[in-house]
Amino acid sequence: MGRCRCQKPPRFSALRLAQKDALPVTSSAHDAASATPRRFTAQGPLKGRIRVPGDKSISHRSIMLGALAVGETKVTGLLEGEDVLATAAAMRAMGATVERTGEGAWTVSGVGVGALLQPQGPLDMGNSGTSTRLLMGLVASHPINVSFTGDDSLSKRPMNRVINPLSQMGASFEASEGGRLPLIVRGASPAVPITYTLPVASAQVKSAILLAGLNTPGKTTVIEPVPTRDHSERMLKGFGAELEVETQPDGTRIITLTGEAELKPQTIEVPGDPSSAAFFLVAALITPGSDVVIENVGLNPTRAGIVDVLIAMGGQIEKLDERDVGGEPVADLHVRHSALKGIEVDPAVAPSMIDEFPALFVAASVAEGVTTTSGLDELRVKESDRLAVMASALTAAGATLEEREDGLVITGTGGKPLPGTRAGIEIATHLDHRIAMSMAVAGVASQDGVLVDDTRPIATSFPVFESMLEGLVA
Ligand code: S3P
Repeated sequence: MGRCRCQKPPRFSALRLAQKDALPVTSSAHDAASATPRRFTAQGPLKGRIRVPGDKSISHRSIMLGALAVGETKVTGLLEGEDVLATAAAMRAMGATVERTGEGAWTVSGVGVGALLQPQGPLDMGNSGTSTRLLMGLVASHPINVSFTGDDSLSKRPMNRVINPLSQMGASFEASEGGRLPLIVRGASPAVPITYTLPVASAQVKSAILLAGLNTPGKTTVIEPVPTRDHSERMLKGFGAELEVETQPDGTRIITLTGEAELKPQTIEVPGDPSSAAFFLVAALITPGSDVVIENVGLNPTRAGIVDVLIAMGGQIEKLDERDVGGEPVADLHVRHSALKGIEVDPAVAPSMIDEFPALFVAASVAEGVTTTSGLDELRVKESDRLAVMASALTAAGATLEEREDGLVITGTGGKPLPGTRAGIEIATHLDHRIAMSMAVAGVASQDGVLVDDTRPIATSFPVFESMLEGLVA
């Protein structure tokens, strides 16, 4: 039976009045005037044991799903980075109680699916694409109107990829030019279940639709021709949602969620973030004499592509004590300095290491021979255009490479350190934490060091990155 797709959401006069004429202003976090530059220089081998902070994707989802379960969800190992704190603040603004009880230990008392409250002002998402897109999904099927703002980087990122499916579910949007932030979401109640085939391999788009499906009557289906990280599916099931995944012989995944779900509070242990571990894997592999153990690294197969690619390049990485933490495969990674060789990276692995390419490019720039990457168009719409920005950054540090439309082709030094940046040359990180950390790693394995223009964005995903690096070279 067809349901009207053009149903108008209820009106919320206070918000409508406040936002009637203008979209909210952009967040001013990390303005250029107060940038914090730093030169990262060689300090000798990296040695020791570290434990990287909790997985960012799982941390966001722990807070969001906890906020939708009635009762108290307890989370340990939560990443206390700015992106996750933006999610926590947003869920508080929509009625949940989100409290820190110790280091990485948080409790979330949820309001229940369908009961999110109207926030009193715009939600500032800072630099966080994951917070924005997933929360747009949550709001889309609640009878509330929410405006989203973000920093300059987030305000350049495409949101039509979530606006399109969520509009089909009945939500309406008022976005800035090109479907960008600042934007307003007017949720639909009830929303309409859809079957949607992802046009881009994106876990954020998949998750936005599934989260919208939680408060939508009937079955919401996402068809994923190329598998992406599956934390949403695992965690939705863990919280008690009715969710089925069918994998077809060609690898296509069909994910069906039955709506008007009732979520039950959980106790969650967040494993270490493989995306954060990647910087130390590369730093140890390319710095002579290094020998490091990175404890408790999440190795979900939809995330662990970087480990396999670095091993294929000749990296000595051993997985120790493989185990299960909070429903996710985890191991300690023992990594030693290695003579890396260039390889052709299969574009099929891209989704399983989509955030790790900047770090991989650094490894490739000191490997023996040529590393070819392709199929990486998505890197152009991350926190920065990571193909263009890494191409200029590594070139400024003395690497040899060619930038192509969908990847970089890098000719390595054969184990010699990169020269580093010359006096007066700064690496422009464009508010992108992963560019800053990748070039910091290039710096510690370089001859003269690498000057990064702004280290503040590192705090979005890995606030203790610099102190951890200093601890390993001490
Ligand atoms: C994420 C999905 C990926 C990734 C991002 C986190 C998630 O984005 O780059 O850092 O938690 O779902 P896309 O969905 O845009 O690929």
